[in-house]
Amino acid sequence: MKIDVLSIFPDYLAPLELSLPGKARAKGLLDVAVHDLRSFTHDRHHTTDDTPYGGGAGMVMKPEPWGEAFEALAIGEHDTIVFTTPSGARFDQRKAEELSARPRLVFACGRYEGIDQRVIEHAREIARVEEISLGDYVLNGGEVAALAIIEAVVRLIPGFMGNPESLVEESHAGDSGGLLEYPVYTKPPVWNGREVPAVLRSGDHGAIARWRHEQARRRTAERRPDLLAPSTLDDGTPIARAVPGDAPELLTLQRACWVQEALANPGVEIPALHESLADVRDWLGEWDTYVVRRAGRLVGAVRGRLEGDAWDIGRIMVAPDLQGEGLGRRLLEHIQAVAAEAATSYVLFTGAGSERNLKMYKKAGFRLRSDVPAPPGAVVLTKPRRAGA
Ligand code: ADE
Repeated sequence: MKIDVLSIFPDYLAPLELSLPGKARAKGLLDVAVHDLRSFTHDRHHTTDDTPYGGGAGMVMKPEPWGEAFEALAIGEHDTIVFTTPSGARFDQRKAEELSARPRLVFACGRYEGIDQRVIEHAREIARVEEISLGDYVLNGGEVAALAIIEAVVRLIPGFMGNPESLVEESHAGDSGGLLEYPVYTKPPVWNGREVPAVLRSGDHGAIARWRHEQARRRTAERRPDLLAPSTLDDGTPIARAVPGDAPELLTLQRACWVQEALANPGVEIPALHESLADVRDWLGEWDTYVVRRAGRLVGAVRGRLEGDAWDIGRIMVAPDLQGEGLGRRLLEHIQAVAAEAATSYVLFTGAGSERNLKMYKKAGFRLRSDVPAPPGAVVLTKPRRAGA
């Protein structure tokens, strides 16, 4: 594989000489070259940025040095230009696997407010293009992201890893069933009074495999429940974790949904109807909330959180024009699937007069609990959580 990196801070890429990529180069599997974008400028100050058209803070990277650099690197249609940018698609192991099969990657490391959009459009005409973000946070530039992506990709190049088995079992690997990796131990058998779990020293390979799988599942449920849950609707529409920017639409959807509730439960006080945008923002920070969008429109939501040892489920909302299509049922399934590991039961409240909701909850295995106190006009339903569910 050939990797080129374009940056105005080529020294940032020095770690490419070390460790993994260094070894791959020594094995002849990888050819890496780092290029200083400033060497494609022609003014005395080697300028690579300028003020944004339309105004605004910060500087934008000028197109000309990029255009010249792409030409000098003789980039062709079989090559992939990777723009590292916080506005790209989020990097993951699947993308690393995909990139590891490409013959040449050219990393374009942006700085400041980004690169003139015409550079990306031009790149799409001469090569394959990926715009990739390392995660939902902003770095000062794309160099660290490029380093991380290169390390994740290079170790997947066939023939690179001394023991390819270790690629199979690690966290996020396709063959790990999408689970995080189980905890690992080495000698000594007792350290600081802490013992290695007995099963790992039992020699019973079946028991070890079962223990590891259970640990991986438990860890994933605790730390990354989103990886465990079937997180799409039947048609592939994602059930996504809500972000703070969803608050205005959630407020609108919640009002639309709870007007119906108010009509079905006359005289009952319904908190969801009185909440402000600030209230919605507040609870978004306190609950695990999921949303569904159709054609960009927020049409469904649900939230859950641990209360004692019960997983409290609420705010199951489906846009009034889409009710009756099974979306609420899927949201209810989803929020149960992502329940915190410590939850031993599920609990939810609904209006005593909300017949449609009650029917759906009962069908999903919830039982009315007249023995549990509920706010006036509301009822409580609970369901035990099955082991392993
Ligand atoms: N450049 C700045 N922030 C970034 C991020 N999160 N991912 C990739 N490149 C970046």
